[in-house]
Amino acid sequence: MLQTRKEDLAGARKPTAFGDMRGWIDALRAAGELHEVNSEVDWNIELGTIMRLAQGPGTGKALLFDNIKDYNKKTSRCRRIFGSSLNSYRRIAMMLGLPPDTHPRELVKIGRTLLTGSIPPKIVATGPVKQNILKGKDVDLTAFPAPWWNRVDGGRYLQTYGGCVTQDPETGVMNVGVYRGMVADKTHMPILMWRAQHIGHHYTAWQNGGKAEMPIAIAMGWEPALAFVGGSPVPKGVCEYDVIGAIRGAPVELTKCETNDLYVPAAAEIVIEGFLGLDPKTYLMEGPYAEFTGYVAGDKAPKPTIRVTCITHRDDPILRGTIEGSMPGSYSENAVTSSIMRAATAWNVLDRSGVPSVTDVWCPPVQAGINVLIRMKQSYRNQAKQAANALWGSSAAHVRYKHVTVVDDDIDIHDYAAVDWAIANRVNAGENDIVIMPATFGLGLDPSTRKRDRNPALFGTGKWNRLLIDATMNLDYDPDPDFGGARFPPTVWPEQADVDKAYARWSELGLGKPTG
Ligand SMILES: Cc1cc2nc3c(=O)[nH]c(=O)nc-3n(C[C@H](O)[C@H](O)[C@H](O)COP(=O)(O)O)c2cc1C
Repeated sequence: MLQTRKEDLAGARKPTAFGDMRGWIDALRAAGELHEVNSEVDWNIELGTIMRLAQGPGTGKALLFDNIKDYNKKTSRCRRIFGSSLNSYRRIAMMLGLPPDTHPRELVKIGRTLLTGSIPPKIVATGPVKQNILKGKDVDLTAFPAPWWNRVDGGRYLQTYGGCVTQDPETGVMNVGVYRGMVADKTHMPILMWRAQHIGHHYTAWQNGGKAEMPIAIAMGWEPALAFVGGSPVPKGVCEYDVIGAIRGAPVELTKCETNDLYVPAAAEIVIEGFLGLDPKTYLMEGPYAEFTGYVAGDKAPKPTIRVTCITHRDDPILRGTIEGSMPGSYSENAVTSSIMRAATAWNVLDRSGVPSVTDVWCPPVQAGINVLIRMKQSYRNQAKQAANALWGSSAAHVRYKHVTVVDDDIDIHDYAAVDWAIANRVNAGENDIVIMPATFGLGLDPSTRKRDRNPALFGTGKWNRLLIDATMNLDYDPDPDFGGARFPPTVWPEQADVDKAYARWSELGLGKPTG
């Protein structure tokens, strides 16, 4: 349970530019992190099922499917799908230019500064993504092998992990986020977009400017940092392209879209360009979808829809896709990346709010940051409450941090048994260790919230009753003279001198090598 800390690895990062998604795939292949599926696989349910089963609890390899039913002819516009690349801490470390065995604890620490780096992008006249430019009647979303990922989905999702680019009409700053998109027909893609997300802020700003549509582009398939940063809570007003540049240590080369003024990575595999309708009359039916909670969520409802005006793509493009929804034994890319970045963000929020002595923060990957664990060295009473209030008062808590558990510094929050032990023996519900913060904003996809309260059209967002489990030793208790002035008794673990003495005799006692 007692934790030895590894040294800080932030300085060990060697930012790596892979060039494009093909460079990243080559790097994964060379590292033995890629599995190529050459046998024919059906885009209809089968591919999604294989991806979900193969990902394991962060143990599966990245997958490249190159023989997709109905899309495997020489003449097929797109014949390959690449996924499962970021649902492993080894591959996240590789992306960041770190040793592959870097512990997630270190990744969280490094994650704390990743979103504040900035190398501005470089504008280039053209690039591989312009090898094929499809406009007018040539625009056809169905020419791409969008999987019907799960039997429960409401349609075929082409956009699962592409960077969705929009622009603030006042400042001109672009935002890149990951927002799911379903194929409605050849030229229309409804997306799921909450008003509290940065795309939602842009949506409102364009609406307030009296516009009927706003420009949008989705860049699918580039270096891993595109989706990683797109799905991370980059602060408002900061352009994700700047952050991606800092992660890879070189500017992102951007080229202008053909039919609007947005910029996309010049070496992206596929770019969908168009305009997002701001008038509810233009909304098309979208959902439901297997969501990140591991439940079917986001009801079938009319949603803001992209009117596609152009598709550009590389020769023989590779579609980037991801299977959403994390469950025990099968961790999605969103879950694993979120476990790092939502923990790092929470730690930064705590620091900015002045919560002292936080020594570790962790969001176990199976739930992607809905639960957060905080480890701290308390110096005054009820610091755990200060921590929970700081998190819940921040915009970072919009779809995360429903349950906050705080433990003392002797508990390793990467060890479920240690956390469970602390909850069992240090929590007293009658002494204010359990605190409910009722009726806050929350996740509209959480099935534990009543269906009516999940309706973003009625309420703008979901509704969460949040919970603090204060599993620290209660400093409200009087110091106990029997325990040398401590509030809690000593644990049964032997003193170090006794441990050393026992281990010195270990092999003589026939117990082999000491494991402690
Ligand atoms: C695979 C994946 C799918 C996502 N789908 C959606 C979605 O459909 N709608 C949404 O609002 N956020 C979705 N998100 C979360 C956003 O990408 C995330 O909150 C991001 O920070 C939003 O960008 P922003 O901070 O620029 O608003 C998804 C994230 C990932 C990784």
